[in-house]
Formats: sequence, C-alpha cells, structure tokens
Amino acid sequence: MSFLTLSNIQKSFGPVQVVKDFNMTIEKGEFVSFLGPSGCGKTTVLRMIAGFESPSGGTIAIDGKSQQNLKPNQRNIGMVFQAYALFPNMNVADNVAFGLKIAGRPKAEIDARVKEMLSLIHLDHLAERYPFQMSGGQQQRVALARALAPKPQVLLLDEPLSALDAKIRVSLREEIRMIQQQLGITTVFVTHDQEEALSISDRIVVMNAGRADQIGKPAEIYNRPATRFVANFVGTLNLIEAKVVDPAANRVTIGDQGVTLRESIGGAKAGDTLSLALRPESGSIAPDAKGDTALSGKVVSSNFLGSVIRTRMDVGGHVISFDMFNNPGIAPPSAGQTVALKFTASELLVIRD
Ligand SMILES: Nc1ncnc2c1ncn2[C@@H]1O[C@H](COP(=O)(O)OP(=O)(O)O)[C@@H](O)[C@H]1O
Ligand SMILES: [Mg+2]
Repeated sequence: MSFLTLSNIQKSFGPVQVVKDFNMTIEKGEFVSFLGPSGCGKTTVLRMIAGFESPSGGTIAIDGKSQQNLKPNQRNIGMVFQAYALFPNMNVADNVAFGLKIAGRPKAEIDARVKEMLSLIHLDHLAERYPFQMSGGQQQRVALARALAPKPQVLLLDEPLSALDAKIRVSLREEIRMIQQQLGITTVFVTHDQEEALSISDRIVVMNAGRADQIGKPAEIYNRPATRFVANFVGTLNLIEAKVVDPAANRVTIGDQGVTLRESIGGAKAGDTLSLALRPESGSIAPDAKGDTALSGKVVSSNFLGSVIRTRMDVGGHVISFDMFNNPGIAPPSAGQTVALKFTASELLVIRD
C-alpha cells in the first residue's frame, strides 16, 4: 500500500484556484520531487501535507491515516525550507534538539539523538556554533538534522538548495539523497531546477499551473515527455513543425525533407501539421543526409559551451540545435557550412497535447 496519498487535492485562495485536482501516491522510502516553474503550486501542496494550509477539497493520508483533522504539530512530519530557518539564538546542538525537547523526550535520549544527527551530517565538531558563524550549506545541513531528529514519517524539503551557490548545491543535493536512502525516509523535495530533480529523485511530478502534468521516473520524464509543457520545461529541446505526407507510412516532411517516424500517426491526415521534439544530444553529424532519419541544413552558428558544442542549423526555415562533445582535434562546424544530422527514428518524438 502506498504510504503518502494525495487524492483530488484542490486549493483556492479566494476566487483563485492554485491547486487543481492533484493526485499522487508515494511509496514508503521513496524520494519524489515536485518540479515546476515558480507559482505553479509546489509550496502550497507541501504546506497542505504539513498542515499549514488546509485543502479546499480532497484528502491526504499518511500510512493509511487521514491527516484532515491533525494540526501541524500533531503530524509526524519534518520540514526544511529554502531560507535558513534555524533559531539564531540557539547553537547547533540546541537547534537539532528543539523538536525532541518540545516532545518532552528525556535528556539522555535527546543528547544521544543530537549526537547521532550531527554525525549523520558530518558536523559533530560544530555543535557549539551559532547559525551566524556558519556557511549557508552548513546551516542547511543543520536544518536537515533538526527536521530528522524527531524521526518523522515524512520529510518535506522546499527548495532547500536554491539560496546556495552552484558547487555547494550539487554536493549538498547528493548528501541529502544519501542520507535519505540511509534512513529510508519517505521524502518530497520541491525544486524548479530540472537537473536537481533528474539527478536525485526516484520519481518526479512535473507541475504546471496547479496540476500534475506528468509523473514518472527521471528517464521517463526526460525521454518520453507527455505534454508540450513537460517537453519544454525539462531539458533543452527542439520543437519542430512537420507536415504529414503519408500517415499510413508515418511519413512527414520537415522543410522539404522527408522523415519517417517510429510512432504511428495513423489518426492524422495528409497535409496536417505535427509537432515533433528532438533533443540536441540526439543524433550526430554524418557525411550525408541519406536515409529516412536524417536532415541536412546550413549552419547558423556554433557555440562552444565547454564539454559540448551546440550548433544551430537551418532546415528549410526550421532552426534545429544539436550538440556534439568537444574534441580538441576536430574543428566545430562553421557558419554557412552545409551539414547532415543523422538520428534514430525513436529520437524524434511526436508531441500530442
Ligand atoms: N496565502 C496565499 N494567499 C493567496 N495566494 C497565495 C497564497 N499562497 C500562495 N498563493 C498563490 O498561489 C500560487 C502558487 O504558489 P506557490 O504554491 O507558492 O507556488 P510555487 O511554490 O510553485 O512557486 C501563486 O500564484 C501564489 O501567488
Ligand atoms: Mg515555492
């Protein structure tokens, strides 16, 4: 049975509905990310799980128990926020002990648990420090330890890394994932950063205007985006308009070049327009554009991005970007040059809305 269940959750603030029929089941020990642009309702869903907001409709259950009539302090939930929300007048050990003290646990138990938590986040040596004496990354590790100390059933993290600089963000997200797996704690992680969500989640919920557009494993979300929104939001993508030529044979044209799709487009009629998606890392430069899944075009520009070179080419008025790995021995394509891009049929997705 699933551990955390959100059924038909809705939330309105006055006349504005910001969460619309949100459904999700999360397994025990699973790490799920809510991914979406600012304002799509991620924090609102998280706050409803924690009990800081009550849903306008729907139910939330944890381990089979409805949370409806439980106040936040009656729910067994740990939460970490974006801004460092440590108590500034308490040292690290007292911050981590806070939840246990409120719960009235015996002092010996609290001391042991604080020690255990500080060792988990590798900050044993900073127990006496105050928040202002620590870096942002260290403060967020303490916030994590404070949330975990009372052994919550569910851990909620609301963009915990977004105030940190890039290097720390990457190392801390990996640390969070490791700790989560070590404890086996059911976790919901909110982020607007697709790379963050793709790299550490068991599953991702891509949210769009208060709805879950797609729920799936990172590779499913990336390789098989269900909607135009997901395709655009997760990763860089070429959206290409194609004209249907022969629906029975899945033949279309891009510009004036014919391409065969792998997906059936049997429902379409000759002359219809279809949206196709192609990731820039799909395909590679070929000597010619022979075959059913190749396009030739004129290079518009080539940008050196470090590990990859992104080239934009014009195919009959459609600009398509593609990437190739940097190779110091090979000159990148130059503007004006004609190149051929070869890919496999499965890399060209049909986007249906
Ligand atoms: N207490 C509130 N009163 C009115 N509107 C709110 C309140 N909280 C959030 N909203 C609105 O709900 C929408 C979703 O907000 P939020 O859940 O914070 O989005 P996200 O976390 O995805 O950025 C936004 O349009 C926001 O302005
Ligand atoms: Mg938010």
